[in-house]
Amino acid sequence: MSEKNQDDTFDPRARTREIQAQFAARGDALGWFDALYNEAEGDPSKIPWADLEPNRYFRDWAGENGLKGNGRTALVVGCGLGDDANYLADLGFQVTAFDLSPTAIAWAKKLYPDKDITFEVADLFQPFRGWLGAFDFVLEIYTIQPLPLDWRPRVIDAISAFANRTGEIVVVTRGREDNVEPDELPWPMSRKDLSRFETNGFVQIDFVQMPGEDDEPPRFVVAYRRRPVSE
Ligand SMILES: C[S@@+](CC[C@H](N)C(=O)[O-])C[C@H]1O[C@@H](n2cnc3c(N)ncnc32)[C@H](O)[C@@H]1O
Repeated sequence: MSEKNQDDTFDPRARTREIQAQFAARGDALGWFDALYNEAEGDPSKIPWADLEPNRYFRDWAGENGLKGNGRTALVVGCGLGDDANYLADLGFQVTAFDLSPTAIAWAKKLYPDKDITFEVADLFQPFRGWLGAFDFVLEIYTIQPLPLDWRPRVIDAISAFANRTGEIVVVTRGREDNVEPDELPWPMSRKDLSRFETNGFVQIDFVQMPGEDDEPPRFVVAYRRRPVSE
């Protein structure tokens, strides 16, 4: 019997890996996200990352740094159910949030119907042209880590392209040491992986490592600002 039929023993992480592996075997690295949201039928406990609250590592970092929007524009990449977009809106950002999964975006709109957040279905690799170089603040939480390891540079390039000339990017990810091979989904990121942001013209302005819960890997919260262009 498939795990999803054994409700008392249902393990959302195991089911997620199962769906991801099925799609990967067909050469599809992206289709599993919408399939997972769809299969959950509105039950967030079936989605391993769906907490219905802002990411706690990002919230701790934002609190420590007194993050405020003051009307600045923000883009949330791979926003899932929209909890971090909602948090940024509460901090005073003008928020656009997107996800590849139409099911996730419909769900986010249902959770936050009255918030002034622009939710869009979009693929990171084929974004709206008007988003390129357009945002003051770009937030990426757990979107790089479940994409194939050999895509990492192009994923980071695509995220980098959204920040404007003085834009900031914050990444929240599971972390690993450079010399450790990641074994199973979600594949943690190393400092070497992250250095691609610096290749793309960003300066790292903060790097915080926080312990993961239970046996989870640590989390890295990393902030970048676009390197000023000298006159
Ligand atoms: C692990 S989930 C994290 C969701 C959310 N950031 C959170 O922390 O709750 C990764 C999200 O990225 C989205 N995603 C994956 N590939 C994408 C792509 N190419 N473009 C846009 N979104 C993508 C998935 O649909 C999924 O919602």
